Amino acid sequence: MELELTAQPLAEAEADLVAVALVDEGDLPRELRDAPGGGDAKPAFRELTLIYPEQPRRVLVVGLGAEGDVDLERLRVAAALAAKRAGALEARTLAWSVPALAGLDAAHAAGALVEGTVLARYRFDRYRSRDPDDPPPPALERLTLIASDPDAIREEAEASRVAAEAANRARELQDLPANELTPSALAGRAEDLAAAHDSLTVEVLGPSEIAAKGMGGLVAVSAGSAQEPRLIVLRHAGGGGGETVGLVGKAVTFDSGGISIKPAASMHEMKMDMSGGAAVLEAVGAIAELGLPIDLVAVIPATENMPSGTATRPGDVITQLNGKTVEVTNTDAEGRLILADALTYCVRDLGADRVVDLATLTGAVLVALGSTYAALVANDDDWAERVFEAAAGSGELAWRLPLHREYKELTRGTLADLVNSAAKRKAGTIYAASFLEEFVDSKPWAHLDIAGTAWDVGREYVGKGATGYGVRLLVALARDLAAPPPS
Ligand code: BES
Ligand code: MN
Ligand code: ZN
Repeated sequence: MELELTAQPLAEAEADLVAVALVDEGDLPRELRDAPGGGDAKPAFRELTLIYPEQPRRVLVVGLGAEGDVDLERLRVAAALAAKRAGALEARTLAWSVPALAGLDAAHAAGALVEGTVLARYRFDRYRSRDPDDPPPPALERLTLIASDPDAIREEAEASRVAAEAANRARELQDLPANELTPSALAGRAEDLAAAHDSLTVEVLGPSEIAAKGMGGLVAVSAGSAQEPRLIVLRHAGGGGGETVGLVGKAVTFDSGGISIKPAASMHEMKMDMSGGAAVLEAVGAIAELGLPIDLVAVIPATENMPSGTATRPGDVITQLNGKTVEVTNTDAEGRLILADALTYCVRDLGADRVVDLATLTGAVLVALGSTYAALVANDDDWAERVFEAAAGSGELAWRLPLHREYKELTRGTLADLVNSAAKRKAGTIYAASFLEEFVDSKPWAHLDIAGTAWDVGREYVGKGATGYGVRLLVALARDLAAPPPS
């Protein structure tokens, strides 16, 4: 989608539909108030009113509620509502008059409007046969932001566009079925990204290299599948001379549970178990597109988790890349096994100074936090705070859960150094994080369990299904790291 910024007055806006916000305390400009339909406009949040002034032809009044209640999240929702109405009206171009609101700077308000619009525009219909008599409505081609000082909002609006488009690409990867999006197909996507951006380089390891390096977790999880695993490494050399940040994303392209097989009812949804990897991949693409001056290394272990005669059995003992042994008591706790190797590789072989990992790791996080917050678990308060702030600012929320020696105790094995799942299902999300902590060599590390937030969040701008959670968060984090420290 094209993004355009202008200081032109609203009456001169050239768009099929023009959206203006209305708050409780506010009023429409006189020419809109007096226009046909103008008297019907209501300021309640989510209220949409179409009015017909002479110029521009069609204005959508979008209620935001009390001015004091308006935050960036409300603007994302409002923008999504307007984008959907624009779709229903078959508008190809939409203009938004960026509202001036107390307590919100115009640049961030503009960014939120862009995010809501771009994300709402996503659809996944490539497998639907076209009915020639009932074509889908045209997608929005251009968004124009009307602001008094376009230069003041340009950088923020453009970053939001790039990040939200990348989030939509991650959603597409999430939506693709596992017969299409195999580990090697995901690696192909990484190669495409690297070919498209000068700052990116890619390296893909296949099964023999993975085994030769000693990545026993990735070997064990992929053992039951006819699809070969891939270890995908993407580097962004943005310069800046600071630390190297590691990003790690779980990419189980289908999680059947393996021999500890899952119930049938929702198993098909486990094509989304690569959401962390997709988010990392597309975030790196966005960071490269924005040319952010930081150095990044991303590691994405990609595999299926399938049952078969060659699959890892419950009770098997494996050796991870860092030499620690694990008794695999449950083959459905596979994410931690592949992430363990990826984290070690990231900090030991690729030189990451600090890491963030994203993974659809535990069903327990849905019990604890639903689809509203991802769980954030970290071994370093400052790093946790940075990730937390990036989450809050992007609206991809995260809430911190604790680590504790007693949780760590649960991961200790009798037969091997570690067990991959606890006998009682105590603190499932923290257990998994405590397990991962064993593989980061005490480097600052933050883990995001996104099993609840990657799918079926139901917010206006992402709806049911794939959310792309993490892409906008990671771009926000990278922009924060790239920003010169306050002097
Ligand atoms: N991929 C699942 C977690 C998951 C659950 C993702 C729901 C998305 C939605 C993960 O591999 C898994 O199966 N975890 C197990 C761990 C258990 C066996 C210790 C779980 O949460 O049940
Ligand atoms: Mn599993
Ligand atoms: Zn899984």
